[in-house]
Parts: sequence; structure tokens; C-alpha cells
Amino acid sequence: MVKNVAETEVIDQEKMQALLGRIIGDFGATASSALVVIGDRLGLYKALASDGPLTSVELAKRTNTTERYVREWLINQAASGYIEYNPATGAYSLTPEQRAALADDANPLFVAGGFELFISLVKDEEHVAEMFRSGEGMRWGDHHAGLFRGTERFFRPGYLANLTSNWIPALAGVREKLEAGATVADVGCGHGASTQIMANAYPKSRFFGFDNHAASIEAARQEVAEAGLADRVSFEVAGATDFPGSGYELICYFDCLHDMGDPVGALRHAREAIAADGTILLVEPMAGNTVEENFNPVGRVYSAASVLVCTPNAVATGPVALGTLATEAALRAVAEEAGFTRFRRAMDTPFNRLFEVRP
Ligand SMILES: C[S@@+](CC[C@H](N)C(=O)[O-])C[C@H]1O[C@@H](n2cnc3c(N)ncnc32)[C@H](O)[C@@H]1O
Repeated sequence: MVKNVAETEVIDQEKMQALLGRIIGDFGATASSALVVIGDRLGLYKALASDGPLTSVELAKRTNTTERYVREWLINQAASGYIEYNPATGAYSLTPEQRAALADDANPLFVAGGFELFISLVKDEEHVAEMFRSGEGMRWGDHHAGLFRGTERFFRPGYLANLTSNWIPALAGVREKLEAGATVADVGCGHGASTQIMANAYPKSRFFGFDNHAASIEAARQEVAEAGLADRVSFEVAGATDFPGSGYELICYFDCLHDMGDPVGALRHAREAIAADGTILLVEPMAGNTVEENFNPVGRVYSAASVLVCTPNAVATGPVALGTLATEAALRAVAEEAGFTRFRRAMDTPFNRLFEVRP
């Protein structure tokens, strides 16, 4: 029986107001995230960026949408702090920062694509609640399709900003090998954003992207053909424990090892497929080494993703579920069990931890 709180405990009014304030903010965030996806999909941000300031009538006309809905969307977006409103003219516009974050998908600061990912996860809430009772898992590919494209769009800006300029140079000797011409596997590559970015930067190297989700590999192939990189990149449907090839100088795992139900088996396979002096690049979400070190905005995002997508995929596919917030010690133990002897935390970013793992 639930205890009657009102009879037994005193409510601190200040703390109550602060809690309710946070919750109201989250109501707004939850409902408004659908509106960000709509604005992104219908080109509303882009039109404001290129032609703003615009009134609702002007924005609707430029985007071929219905003014009555656009008018309400604009109020919500201005209340969210995502766009600016000028009461004197009735027109809305974007600041340079809002433009970078919401309208320009080629910008490393672009984040609107992330809403496509997170809203796709919310759509699975009923099913995930059932899994709390049944203990069953849910495979990556069984989620709403927005997850696959949204994941690519969420991660791509960070990879664009960091991968070849900061991350590869942080690994001992790897940049030199890639510049001279090396063989690289990108395991759990999804739509292959990381594979493409590396292939662009290191034209003498050969890149192989593997993922066991066939629809993602199909999308990756299409993107790489459109980017004119098909001569040095190929994608194949393959699992982390059985992808083909050997002698790879670099094997990468971008935000995926913790999703795998057999991470030790995955790295054991990599141990066999890697060149004698090769390197594993393990990019994992930023997470603390204690539970309480995750009590921050990034930890909040990743712990939600862990419940809704990463842990269910691991539960569905193997004996181990590291979870999105896998500690450094847990990841090190996986690498050691798989037969690697060197494990180094090479770099941190606000969203990621980078590990260099070597035979
Ligand atoms: C969070 S996504 C990351 C995708 C991509 N690396 C990126 O950074 O955009 C995780 C990916 O791992 C893949 N994956 C999970 N388990 C796998 C396994 N055992 N073998 C191959 N791919 C796997 C999923 O299909 C999914 O594409």
C-alpha cells in the first residue's frame, strides 16, 4: 500500500516549487520536441535562416505550409528560446547560434537531427514498459525507422568536428598509417557517417563498414555512392563477431560496443582480425565511473537511451548488457578478457570517451 505522504511528511514549499518548475520545463521539452522534428522536416528553420525575419504568413507561403499551424509553431519555438520574435513587426528570425544548431545540417554545431532520434525512442515506450516485466530485449532494427537516420544525424556533426582533426591524431601512429594507406574496419557503422568522413580525409586508405542491420547498410551504400567514395569504401551486412577480413590496421567501434550482447566475443574477433601492431578505436558515450557521476544533462540523455534502446539490444542479442553508461573499468575488463593487453583513455569530449586498445 502506498503511504499517505500528506499525513506523514511535511512538504518544503520551496523544494516543491523547484521540482514542479523542472517538471513543467520537461512537459514543454517533451511536447516541443515533436515540433522541432516538424520544423526540421518541413524546412521551417531553413526558411527562417535564409529569408528571415518572417511573419507566420510569409513563412507559411515560403514553405508551402498552412499558416494557422505555422503561427502556433512559431509561438512555441519562440517560447522555447529556439527562435526570436520582434513584437514591433510580428516577424520571427534566427540568431547565428540558432541557425547553426537548428538550420544548417552541415555545421558541426547542428543538433536538430538529434530530435529525430530521441522522438523515435519515445514511440517505443509502451513496448519497453512491457520489457521491464518480461525481461525480454528488443533488437536495434525493430525500433521506429527514425532511430536509424536520427542516430546518423545526431552523431555526424560531432564526427565532422572531431574525428579526423582530434580523435585519429590522439591515437599513437594511426594518422600516419591512414595517410600512407591502411585498411580500416568500421564495425557497427550504422549509416556509415564515420566511415565516409575518414574515407574523405584519407584517400589512400581502404574502408570497410560492417553492421548487422541490413537497412542501415543499404542506406550507407547509397550515401557513399552519392558522395563519390565508392572506390575506397564498401559496406557489408555482418556481425561484430564474424565480419570478414584480416590484417586491419585500425578497427573502429563508434558508439556501438555497449549495444552488443557479446562485447567480449566482438573484441575477441577483432583481436584475430587486427594487424600485429594495429589499433582499436573505441568511442563510447561519456559516462562516469560511479553512478552519481552521471547526474548531469549528458548522463540524463544517455541513461534514457540506455533504457530505451542500447540495453534492450544487448539483452536481445547476447549474455552481457554493458549499458550506455558502461564504466571505464567495465570496458577495460572486456578488452582484457578478449586478449588485448594495452587499454588507454585517449581523450574525452563532452559527449564521448575515446579509448585506444592494442594487442
Ligand atoms: C548507436 S548505433 C551507432 C551507429 C554508428 N556507429 C554511428 O556512430 O552513427 C549502434 C549500431 O551498432 C549496430 N550493432 C549492434 N550490435 C551489433 C553487432 N553485434 N554486430 C554489428 N553491428 C551491431 C546497430 O545495428 C547500430 O547500427
